[in-house]
Order: sequence, then structure tokens, then C-alpha cells
Amino acid sequence: MPNDTTTIRTFLQAKTARRKLSMVTCYDYTFARLLSQSPIDAVLVGDSAAMVMHGHPTTLTATVDMMRIHTEAVVRGAGGKLVVADMPFLSYRKGLTAAVEAAHVLMRAGATAIKLEGVDGHDDTIRHLAQSGIPVMGHVGLQPQSVHAYGGYRIQGRQNEAAQSIARAACRLEELGAFSVVLECIPAALAGEITAALGIPTIGIGAGPHCDGQILVLQDLLGMNVEFKPKFVRRFGSGAQSVLDAFGQYDEAVKTGAFPGREESYE
Ligand code: KIV
Repeated sequence: MPNDTTTIRTFLQAKTARRKLSMVTCYDYTFARLLSQSPIDAVLVGDSAAMVMHGHPTTLTATVDMMRIHTEAVVRGAGGKLVVADMPFLSYRKGLTAAVEAAHVLMRAGATAIKLEGVDGHDDTIRHLAQSGIPVMGHVGLQPQSVHAYGGYRIQGRQNEAAQSIARAACRLEELGAFSVVLECIPAALAGEITAALGIPTIGIGAGPHCDGQILVLQDLLGMNVEFKPKFVRRFGSGAQSVLDAFGQYDEAVKTGAFPGREESYE
């Protein structure tokens, strides 16, 4: 049974009621329409669009304009789902005015909320956005926009000091007015401690079962990318095989003359 409208209140109520939240990424109208008919709670127009939709090796090449175009397309199909749009790399590190302008573009595109990575050095911006009526989702643990600073994609928070720093950042996000926080690629026990300490919901990806909700990249969930299978991904479909089967059947039908038939032709 499809959900009705999801808002940030739904998120906070889910935390109180201990009801798990489901999120997926989405970048286009067609999948947004399908998601609108599903019980999935909310959609993230992730800056992973740069990788999944545009073939770049990292998220660093996402721009505000790229995120605007994907956000507009998703919002047209998403019905009443909460749509969170990612603030791209550095768009919130160029001063308050630039950050507000970037967030404004995404909100004008129809997003219900924005997401940004990390806290240190842009805590004032987070507070300002939240106080300006823009729901903010935080993102700590593995921050993909910092991939070059890490020297690759790797689990975060395994050492005690790093774990404490991630936990502090998550608490700080709540203090600054964030309505939710993504925990990416951290040990499950750490994610559980953070989830228990926060009054706002945690959404995990590679952060184990104790988070208040989970998010996966849509194409990973559907099994579209056979070469990519990190430990935390579970495939809930055989998307690549289904698509290849359809392509093969179409090709054969065209080449044998079975398509188009009379019923697919005009008199
Ligand atoms: O851009 C993205 O897909 C994300 C998720 C991994 C949470 O930020």
C-alpha cells in the first residue's frame, strides 16, 4: 500500500515510534514515479548522480546545476514522497551566501530538504540553513566528497578517536537543527551508539542494522551494476539481467521480423 505524503515530521515520528525508515536514491522521473507507488518513505537525489548517471569516477564533479536538473525530474514523479537533494562538493564551503544560494536553487527545484556532508568548518551554515526553513540532513562517517582526503573509499570510525569524532559530529548536527543524519560505512556498534544518543533519526548505509532507517543507491538495490558489490549492498532484484533479457528479446524480434506485428502497426 503506497504511503501518503512523507515530511520531516514523518521522520521524527518514526524515530519515536521505533518504526524503521526506508530511503533510496533516485535521479530521474521514471523511477521517481515507480517509487511514488511504493511504500518507500523518502528519496535522495544523491550527488552519486555524477557516478551512476554520468559515469564519473567520484561524486566531486556534481554541480548545483546537475543536482537541480535531477531534482526537478525526481520531484515531478515523486508524488508525496520527501525528496532530499544533495548539496554538491564545495557548494557549502564558499561562504554563507553561496551556500544559501545553492540550497535555494535545490529548494526551488522542488526538494523538501537538502543533505550535506560533515560539520567542521560549516557548522554556521548548517544552523543558518536550518533556521531559514530548509530541513537539513547531515552525513557523517564515510563522506564520499572527501575521498581524496582519505586516499580512497574506506570504513571510518574503527579507531576509538575517529569513532568519538564521528559521534560528536552526529550530536553536533542535531544541536545545529538537522532533522536526520546519514551514517555511512562505520562499524555497526558505533552506529548503534549514535542512534541511541540522538533524538533525530539515523539513516544507515554500510552502518549495520541498528540505525533508524536505511538507504541504498537505487541501481545497487536493483542489481543494475554487476561489477559493483561492496559488502553492505544487498541486491533486491536482478536488474541488469532483466534489462539484458529484454534487449536480447527485442533484438531477436526485430531481426526475425516478429516485431512490429499487425497489432503494433497502423492501418
Ligand atoms: O549520494 C548518495 O548516493 C549518498 C548516499 C550514499 C547516502 O549520499
